Amino acid sequence: MIQFTFENMESLMEIIRKYHPEVFLNNEIDLKKLKQILETKNREKSGLHWTGKENSKKQAYTRSEFKYLLNAEKSIDADISKNIFIEGDNLDALKLLLEHYSKSIKAIYIDPPYNTGSESFVYADKFAAQKNKKVNNPFDTLHGNWLSMIYPRLILSREFLRDDGVIFVSIDENELANLKLLLDEIYGEENFIDIFSWAKTETPANLSRKSKKVLEYVLCYQKVKDKIKFKGIKKTSPSSNGLLNQSNAINTLIFPKNLVKTKIPDRVIPKGTYQTDKYTLELLEDTEVHNGVFVKEVILRGKFKWTQPKLDTEIQKGTTIHIPTIKLSPSYEKTAYDEEVPPNLINTKVGVETNESASKSLTELLGAKVFDFPKPPSLIKYLFGFSDDPNGVFMDFFAGSGATAQAILEMNEKDGGNRKYICVQLPEEIKKNSPAYAAGYRKISEITHKRVTNVSQLLKGKVNDAGFIYYELK
Ligand SMILES: C[S@@+](CC[C@H](N)C(=O)[O-])C[C@H]1O[C@@H](n2cnc3c(N)ncnc32)[C@H](O)[C@@H]1O
Repeated sequence: MIQFTFENMESLMEIIRKYHPEVFLNNEIDLKKLKQILETKNREKSGLHWTGKENSKKQAYTRSEFKYLLNAEKSIDADISKNIFIEGDNLDALKLLLEHYSKSIKAIYIDPPYNTGSESFVYADKFAAQKNKKVNNPFDTLHGNWLSMIYPRLILSREFLRDDGVIFVSIDENELANLKLLLDEIYGEENFIDIFSWAKTETPANLSRKSKKVLEYVLCYQKVKDKIKFKGIKKTSPSSNGLLNQSNAINTLIFPKNLVKTKIPDRVIPKGTYQTDKYTLELLEDTEVHNGVFVKEVILRGKFKWTQPKLDTEIQKGTTIHIPTIKLSPSYEKTAYDEEVPPNLINTKVGVETNESASKSLTELLGAKVFDFPKPPSLIKYLFGFSDDPNGVFMDFFAGSGATAQAILEMNEKDGGNRKYICVQLPEEIKKNSPAYAAGYRKISEITHKRVTNVSQLLKGKVNDAGFIYYELK
């Protein structure tokens, strides 16, 4: 035992920093977090474990040796733009960015390498340990390196999000289960939103004897899960919806005169019972039709979807009401529909394209097929639209071909918004035998740069800020 003094306070800090680097951020100690850790220390450890986990966690909390260096030649409108492109390893980029963007990002989309084991992609996607290396068990061999790569980056990702911020992570079946456990640990299971399934292809490869792979997944978490509804697409074509609902209680609705449309020829309609084998309606007062409109109030008693206040609000919003036939069953057509809560299947029905069409558009934009399986910007626009902020900052630190940057500019083009993007891409060497090399690219970040430049030129004048600042990590 030693006496507690200010002198040994520093050693105490060093010990805490060594064993719990996660409680230090930006040189501040999070006492609440430390207390939580110490309290749960003796509980049985749950979650995902692999050899190297503790070391990889520490990587999130060490300082970066790198600095940003502006590359003015590669930037567009660097003096006024708020969009950022960083060429470098995202672990360093995230550490540096955190000094400016802690708790300020509205949404993150990332599409990391999936650990498919493929060696034919333009980027590295084989993380399994080599056979001649000594590894503890088959799980570590296959997944350990990938997990150690992604873990510190995901830990840091959370620090960027605003409380209402959302993260979307694309993945396939190779690491889906592991990624879910990791994200549960980092973001908290209580903040899990869903695993969205994206229909990535309409022409699945016939490679497996057991299943044709049509889906990829997008895991979604909110920093602090709130009660606000996510928005999917709006129904566009007005269709007629019946106003009766036989499972509701009987109610009276008064439809104002000169409003309800009908196909009934001019006549007086006497009060009384009107029915089919499915429903019964009571017309409480005589009413009258003239020139396709009820010129007197229609007072109906029956089982309706809406109450009188809801009917009145809808009429005020411009919803049209029809009582087309003498059976007197009312229906409505809204002029504008609210966005629906998104289904967890994402496909062309909600306006999201496939890998094939993304690849085709990118080939047209760049003049050659230089990137494997790019994501369609329509997927990223759809995801960001779930919980949007037209003035928000959006991030993608596995930028690849730059689909997220394009998505953000296109969202701004559509609604005049001021969304900003931050994208990070490693200057990963391109293999000599690849089509990208043949097209003149030597590093993947050159492909990203080409795309953001082309998109910027296409959208100049159509968005408030089509430029970007290009930084290199040195
Ligand atoms: C699956 S691709 C992303 C594709 C992208 N969503 C698109 O639509 O074009 C993953 C990308 O992450 C990049 N990457 C891998 N490790 C990285 C790292 N440590 N830092 C930054 N980028 C990295 C790879 O070079 C690759 O371009």
